Amino acid sequence: MDQIVIQGGNPLTGEIRIGGAKNAALPLMTASLLSGEPLTLKNLPRLADISTMSKLLEQHGVSVLRIEHGKGGMTMTFDAGGVDNTVAPYDLVRRMRASVLVLGPLVARFGEAKVSLPGGCAIGTRPVDLHIQGLEKLGAEIDLDGGYITARAPNGLVGDQFVFPFVSVGATENLMMAACLAKGETVLTNAAREPEVSDLAHCLVAMGAKIDGIGSDTLTIQGVGSLKAAEHSVVCDRIETGTYAMAAAITGGEIELKGVRTDLLEATFKMLGDAGLQIENTTEGTKVSLDSGGLKGVDVMTEPFPGFPTDLQAQVMALMSLAEGTAMITETIFENRFMHVPELSRMGANINVQGASAMVRGVEQLTGAEVMATDLRASSSLILAALAAKGETVIRRVYHLDRGYERIEEKLAACGAVIERAEEK
Ligand code: UD1
Repeated sequence: MDQIVIQGGNPLTGEIRIGGAKNAALPLMTASLLSGEPLTLKNLPRLADISTMSKLLEQHGVSVLRIEHGKGGMTMTFDAGGVDNTVAPYDLVRRMRASVLVLGPLVARFGEAKVSLPGGCAIGTRPVDLHIQGLEKLGAEIDLDGGYITARAPNGLVGDQFVFPFVSVGATENLMMAACLAKGETVLTNAAREPEVSDLAHCLVAMGAKIDGIGSDTLTIQGVGSLKAAEHSVVCDRIETGTYAMAAAITGGEIELKGVRTDLLEATFKMLGDAGLQIENTTEGTKVSLDSGGLKGVDVMTEPFPGFPTDLQAQVMALMSLAEGTAMITETIFENRFMHVPELSRMGANINVQGASAMVRGVEQLTGAEVMATDLRASSSLILAALAAKGETVIRRVYHLDRGYERIEEKLAACGAVIERAEEK
């Protein structure tokens, strides 16, 4: 297992090119199952989760062609013309919860699917009940047995109305994909509005789907008989963008983030601006630095899009650890998403958790320590803390990081970070 070793204290300066969003790429890849014709995806990030999803699709019988573009992301073509297996096995699904996104496309196109339940997860129980209820509403018969969800719709799915009791990104994506091949009209109310959901919708439209209301909380889908070949470029990663913006701020440096879409990060940039970051648009992206007044404590509450994203909560906590004053950080999307708190505390942060809120009292200095990454975004919060800390930090279990950040050491080192990957002793 690898670990990352960082000597902190260097202001980061330079530029970082932001890649395609993991959370858009994964559902887009599963959309290929909806058609017998190839789907080509450009700007795919090179990440462990993308490889896991490719493996899952290949074992269903999808042929995958991969073209590397040096450092600039990948293009992959997925041809689901020869799918011969509608079972998604536990061994692959347990590695990545997004695997459950094959359920909707498989049952919609083949009338059957058997997908392992994803199981527990470090950031809460994360059930899939909404995915199941929604597919039942579209006429699928669902059985839960032996740790698997079996969905059957031998005569095809039938469009209906489904009201999400609360916002779910994954369930919106699964049902939107399934509805594309259902007979008649489906209306999804209180749907997730995350940019990655819209990116998927635009790709489905390019494949011939009929979807109205993209970007809103009501999606109306007219089912079609089949979908066709298409080509789509994955939207940029707003979580990677926010993470590197905070890397510039926490080290007192200045980074130009290239290839970003600031409109996808309005709530985040508003909060970071209040905290003392200077954010300036450039011809190729956005330049981020810290105001001369330094970091100020600002309260943050995670919310579904367009609110502040839960996937940046751990990182903002690292940032607020060094701010002047206090910040109340409230997590409303996931239970148990404060696993980074004890690790940040080992580095000298002053954080008190009460239920879903964490009170962060800014300290003058963090100090290097041995810490352990517990999940993907927690890992990046430890990287941020380590970049600013005095001395050496060793972060163990960084495989989490490889699931969601492409070449992170390389990108940070190019801006002056002293960071290296080593084998865990
Ligand atoms: C996606 C993102 C993840 C992000 C999250 C929220 C991907 C691959 N992952 O995850 O990075 O943190 O959105 O923005 O895109 N829930 C249920 N029942 C369900 C479905 C969800 O109770 O059937 C709950 C979850 O446990 C969670 C909340 O709803 O508490 C939101 O989850 P959801 O939006 O579905 O997240 P994911 O799609 O898993």
